[in-house]
Amino acid sequence: MIVTVTLNAALDRTLTVPNFQAGFRHRASESLTLPGGKGVNIARALKSLGQPVIATGLAGGKTGIRIVEDLTAEGILNDFVRIRGESRTSTAIIDPTSNTQTELNEYGPVVTARELHAFMEKFTYIAKGADVVIIAGSLPRKVKDSFYKEIIGALAATDALTVLDTAGEPLRMAIKANPGLVSPNIFEAEALVGHEFSEDEDTLHAAVQLSRMGAGSAIITHPGGCFAYLDDGEGSQKTYTVQIPPQDPISTVGSGDAFLAGYVSARVSGKSESECLRYAVACGAANTQKYGAGVFDVHDVKRFITKTKVEEVDLASTA
Ligand SMILES: Nc1ncnc2c1ncn2[C@@H]1O[C@H](COP(=O)(O)OP(=O)(O)OP(=O)(O)O)[C@@H](O)[C@H]1O
Ligand SMILES: [Mg+2]
Repeated sequence: MIVTVTLNAALDRTLTVPNFQAGFRHRASESLTLPGGKGVNIARALKSLGQPVIATGLAGGKTGIRIVEDLTAEGILNDFVRIRGESRTSTAIIDPTSNTQTELNEYGPVVTARELHAFMEKFTYIAKGADVVIIAGSLPRKVKDSFYKEIIGALAATDALTVLDTAGEPLRMAIKANPGLVSPNIFEAEALVGHEFSEDEDTLHAAVQLSRMGAGSAIITHPGGCFAYLDDGEGSQKTYTVQIPPQDPISTVGSGDAFLAGYVSARVSGKSESECLRYAVACGAANTQKYGAGVFDVHDVKRFITKTKVEEVDLASTA
């Protein structure tokens, strides 16, 4: 069983607005509302890949009720702690004319110490049956930056693979608790490592550096694929670059989430490292061809698998 954690669950609205301009009145030609937040998106993608998954986290107010009801209607198993504060609504405006995407994200609710305690109790219970725990997205306001570190620490005594996809200070702190895998995008990785990457080798070296900071393995994503340092836990460490020709997107929201779902799904299915990476990139790319985060067509995944190039790189020879 895979467990995803979403402490800042959201209701995600995607509005299609041709010729969108700030300061004018527009009518959306299409709209889609789905439960969201990164862990929720990952759970959606994992379910469509046929993996057993349960989404947990915090959901509050009327928006929280809607999130839980809609998840259940989608057939995504979920067990959220209900909180008093109102879960956030996030809006993405997609303009197909200019191919731009404008995102408006609310901060989300303030969470009390008692609510966090209730979450930890529920989580440690659910995680007992987990092979993989995926912790993803931002922390709600007023939750200490060390909270993901605590969650990962609570899993140290279990056999579960811990996967962390977050940014900023929560990532900097939690990486020290030795998550099995981190998967920042380029910007998140640059912020963590403290410098910009100009060459591919820089990014590969950064992936290695993330492992020195405490992660078992590290994958750094970007729209053209990813750079990975994978440690199999049995003495083998390899670095890879994975490339896909950039596709014209319908919506890129949640590509990183679909990527991670693809990687974890391939991994629990026992695929090889290079196949896991190929599958991840193909799922991320397929996500760009549909509205909705963590939504993709399995036929697109198959099509993109054939377009994805995986190369193992001997970093020592590039140093
Ligand atoms: N335009 C694109 N064409 C092809 N593949 C894409 C494109 N954009 C994203 N992808 C795929 O999605 C993966 C993740 O993309 P990216 O690094 O942009 O995610 P992200 O910034 O973490 O996104 P988010 O956090 O919003 O889900 C990439 O590794 C790639 O496989
Ligand atoms: Mg991301």
